[in-house]
Amino acid sequence: MKEPKKLKLANIPTPLIDSEFEGCKFKIKRDDFTGMELSGNKVRKLEYLLYEAKKQNVDYVFTSGGDQSNHARATCIAAMQVGIKSKLFLWGKDKKIAEGNLFFDKLTNTEIEYFTKKEYANVPLLMEKEKVKFEKKDKKVYVIPSGGSSTLGIWGYINFMKELSEQIDIKKLNGIVVAAGTGGTAAGLLLGAEILGFNKLKIYPVNVIYSENEIKNKISSLVKSCVNDYKININPDFNNLVVLDGYSKEGYKNITKSKVKVLKNFFKQSGILLDPIYTGKAFVAFYENFLRSKKKSNVLFLHTGGLFGTFAKRKDFMM
Ligand SMILES: Cc1ncc(COP(=O)(O)O)c(C=O)c1O
Repeated sequence: MKEPKKLKLANIPTPLIDSEFEGCKFKIKRDDFTGMELSGNKVRKLEYLLYEAKKQNVDYVFTSGGDQSNHARATCIAAMQVGIKSKLFLWGKDKKIAEGNLFFDKLTNTEIEYFTKKEYANVPLLMEKEKVKFEKKDKKVYVIPSGGSSTLGIWGYINFMKELSEQIDIKKLNGIVVAAGTGGTAAGLLLGAEILGFNKLKIYPVNVIYSENEIKNKISSLVKSCVNDYKININPDFNNLVVLDGYSKEGYKNITKSKVKVLKNFFKQSGILLDPIYTGKAFVAFYENFLRSKKKSNVLFLHTGGLFGTFAKRKDFMM
C-alpha cells in the first residue's frame, strides 16, 4: 500500500467530546473543529487533493456543489491559502447579498458559474469542458469532484480512523453515524476501519442527496476503486455499511419543522448547533435510531461541520 502525501491544512486531532441529549449520553467527534473559515470534513480531504494540485503545479482548481456547498467554500478558501486560483460550478442562483457559504466564496474572489438543477446534473462534464478551454489559454487545471470524493480525497477519512483509534478504544465502539452527501467521508471511514482491522465497526451514513441504493453504490465503488488504485491488501466487508435512509425526504436543500425542533432542543442542552442540510438530518437519524430508546448503543456521532449553511436558513430556525 502506498499512502499518498498531504498538505497540513486541518487543525487535527479534533476533539472527541462527551455529550448528552434527553438523558442519553454519547460521544461526538468534532470535525467541525478542523478550522474556522476553513472547517468541517472537507478540510481533511483537501489536504490530499491540494497536495496533488500543488505537485501538478496547476493555476486553477475547479470544483462543484450547491450554492451553500461547504465543500465549495472550503475548496476556494484552501486554494487561496496555498496560492492556487479556483473556479466553482454551483447549483443555484447568484445573490447580490450572499449568505452563509456563498458569502465566503464571494470574498475569496473565486470565479463562480451558476447552473440550474437540470444543468448541474452534468457538472463533471461541464468542468471537463471548461478545463479544456482553460488549457487552450495555457492555464493548468486540477478538477476536484463534488465533495472532494475521489479515491485520493477519501484518504482524509481513512486516516481519520487512525486519529480516532488514538482517542478511544474502537473495539468498544459499535458504529459511527455520519451525514452522506457524495459518500466520500463514509467510504473513507469504512476503508480506514478495515485497514486497521476494526472489522466489526458499522458505518451508518445518513443519505441527504441520493437514494439508499445510489449512496450504497457510490460508497462501495469509491472503496473498491481506492483499494485498487492504492493496492490496499484488504477485502472490504460491505455488511458493515448500513444506510439510515429516509431522513431527507423534504429534499437536500430543505429541512422539516420537526427536525429543526430536535436541533433547537439539542442546541439548548449542548450549545452545539447542527446544520439544516447535513449534520442536522444525520443527528435526527442518530436520535431516532440510537438515542431515543435510551439503551446504551456505543455509537458515535461524527460532526462534519456545516454551520455556515445554517445562516442561509435562519428563517427555519426562527419559527
Ligand atoms: C457538513 C457536511 N457534512 C457531511 C457532508 C457529506 O460528506 P460526503 O460528501 O463526503 O458524503 C458534507 C458534504 O457533502 C458536508 O458539507
